[in-house]
Amino acid sequence: MLVFVPPHPLIKHWVSVLRNEQTPCPIFRNAMAELGRLLMYEASRDWLPTVTGDIQSPMGVASVEFIDPREPILVVPILRAGLALAEHASSILPATKTYHLGLSRDEETLLPTVYLNKLPDKFPEGSRVFLVDPMLATGGTIVASLDLLKERGVNNKQIKLISSVAAPPALQKLSEKFPGLHVYTGIIDPTVNEKGFIVPGLGDAGDRSFD
Ligand code: PRP
Repeated sequence: MLVFVPPHPLIKHWVSVLRNEQTPCPIFRNAMAELGRLLMYEASRDWLPTVTGDIQSPMGVASVEFIDPREPILVVPILRAGLALAEHASSILPATKTYHLGLSRDEETLLPTVYLNKLPDKFPEGSRVFLVDPMLATGGTIVASLDLLKERGVNNKQIKLISSVAAPPALQKLSEKFPGLHVYTGIIDPTVNEKGFIVPGLGDAGDRSFD
């Protein structure tokens, strides 16, 4: 497994806005969306399928390269907080489809429960999937989500995991269970507390995005 923390000042900026407890809900949600845009941009480098050809510009013939519309590019946001991070997916990625996945974590046991699953029975051949969840804390949610994806026919190399903040327990589980996976995150934080929150983190990403 490879973990990328792209060294970009805008990524640091939006993570800092998210971390600030004074940031109000609409600004928080916008920061999450901007961070997601940058991380998806970085993750799509050298990964998206293209087609080449010639096209007539007003001034002459030019060699061109487009994203291949025949190859499926898919986005799977994990509700709720993943909705904010995936907000700009459809504007930066041409021809995406979105499959929603809702998981919530029990406050006592920290175990995830799936309450909404709009995944297809089988992903199309050659799918490229952006799996989007801002917080990788204990790792229970993301491991359960990846299991659901893999049951439907995608392998680790077909998935790019996009997150805002990742913590060691989640990264440890991911590296053991999903070799070959690529993770793009805004920052890696040192710990998860006994309530399952990343420290220093940014608090409850779902509540801060939507409450
Ligand atoms: C949060 C977060 C992740 C999950 C991470 O979601 O957005 O999905 O917890 O925790 P884990 O790595 O320990 O499993 P939550 O269940 O609070 O749902 P929400 O997005 O609706 O707030």
